[in-house]
Amino acid sequence: VREPDLVGRHVVVSAGGTREPLDPVRFLGNRSSGKQGYALARTAAARGARVTLVAANTGLPDPAGVDVVRVGTAVQLREAVLKAAADADAVVMAAAVADFRPETYAAGKIKKQDGREPDPIVLVRNPDILAEVSADRARSNQVVVGFAAETDEVLANGRSKLRRKGCDLLVVNEVGERKTFGSEENEAVVLGADGSETPVPYGPKEALAEIVWDLVTRRLG
Ligand code: PMT
Repeated sequence: VREPDLVGRHVVVSAGGTREPLDPVRFLGNRSSGKQGYALARTAAARGARVTLVAANTGLPDPAGVDVVRVGTAVQLREAVLKAAADADAVVMAAAVADFRPETYAAGKIKKQDGREPDPIVLVRNPDILAEVSADRARSNQVVVGFAAETDEVLANGRSKLRRKGCDLLVVNEVGERKTFGSEENEAVVLGADGSETPVPYGPKEALAEIVWDLVTRRLG
């Protein structure tokens, strides 16, 4: 158990995966369960922080002592994160956010039409919330942390993502159909904009969360 070193701090954590609706019954989504984000929220609260957890489509119970804002889509997640970030000391984006959403939403269920090929799904870009929070810091000393879910060239992709997004820390983790998503454990390397690299061995998602907060508190001073 760590010291209560986040007392007096407000931190924002996003968790889960966005769902981008096609029609009233279908969506484009991903495999995030929200467990990593919830572990971050729980550990920050245990260290004394006021925590706002922006949860996208998770089936997990609200952690005790945490303000939970539930959202569905990337656009809703952006709104909730930007609102909470206005007075936050740190923002940690553990949510898996869809880069694209269907251009159109069909008000009625899309029907299969006999003898006709299905219409293609046209996608448009979603806002990049992490890049936006990093570029327009609500406070000059705000610490911004991203996650990178990679399937290949994990570290090389992580390094270029850190530069592109402009955050202070990027937690790079490998994902697959049964890897990291939904599991109780994770393994990662935390890259710092200052060139630092902190490897985190395979273990409970709480253990990775504690290391993220260690690195954040060091930057908060
Ligand atoms: O929820 P679990 O089952 O516990 O799984 C945990 C996890 C694998 C979801 C988590 O550890 C993780 O890696 N989260 C980030 C997933 C992701 O969206 O990675 P990305 O490489 O596509 O995005 C990079 C970063 O930019 C992320 O911080 C993401 O929140 C952010 N982003 C992405 C797209 C977008 N339009 N806006 C964003 O802010």
